[in-house]
Amino acid sequence: MDQDYLELKSWLEETRDEPLEEMAGFFDARIEGYEEHMACWQAHYKWMAEFIPEQAEQLLDLGCGSGLELDCIFSRFPELSVTGVDLSAEMLDKLKSKYPDKKMKLVQADYFEYDLGVGCFDVVVSFETLHHFTAEKKAELFGRIYRSLKPGGIYLECDYIAVSQEIEDITFAECRRRRKRDRIPDDVFVHFDTPLTLQHELEAIRAGGFEQVEVIGFLPGDHHTPLIRAAKR
Ligand SMILES: C[S@@+](CC[C@H](N)C(=O)[O-])C[C@H]1O[C@@H](n2cnc3c(N)ncnc32)[C@H](O)[C@@H]1O
Repeated sequence: MDQDYLELKSWLEETRDEPLEEMAGFFDARIEGYEEHMACWQAHYKWMAEFIPEQAEQLLDLGCGSGLELDCIFSRFPELSVTGVDLSAEMLDKLKSKYPDKKMKLVQADYFEYDLGVGCFDVVVSFETLHHFTAEKKAELFGRIYRSLKPGGIYLECDYIAVSQEIEDITFAECRRRRKRDRIPDDVFVHFDTPLTLQHELEAIRAGGFEQVEVIGFLPGDHHTPLIRAAKR
């Protein structure tokens, strides 16, 4: 068994009696200190921003949170029009307070339900938000992301993956066990990481209809958080 699996297994064991928290409540309760906690991702935010095409005008950010990826994106594209979707009112309030004068439409909604429109965006991004959902649910979302893009538009995803099938399996199994224990139905979002393997993530993106899907790579010293780019012809 590899080191990642052993460390995860021991963390799951240590936390086995902790109650699950619902997604929006989890982030609402942690808004203080959230940006400091996420500072370790600074290089990834900057990296993703470098792949936004020069001519981009309309961007959709799924799970935008307080806009840490947008900090880097706005420094390259100060005039960009952004639609940000997030479940957490506290996160969106923080984002609004950071950028009162930007062209931003902020929506408190579930991105699996919110109407993303058809042919509206040059770029869709998601950063560290999709590692809680099944491949089936994501494939359906990727199909809606695909439709929301203009021809030639791109989807950029930077997110945590399971580095082995064992890790995907053990996290989904543990999430099911905790849900059952806490009597939380399957359709209520909980904050518990269930990343897919990179192969399964790419398959789900392709199942959404993207013609070109590529792994841009990993930053040096990291093997959990690839940047993926998918393009619509
Ligand atoms: C770890 S935070 C990342 C936020 C931001 N992208 C960043 O990197 O700072 C995950 C965000 O995804 C949001 N989220 C999770 N599931 C969601 C859903 N189904 N619909 C909308 N937002 C969701 C959470 O509320 C949270 O703000």
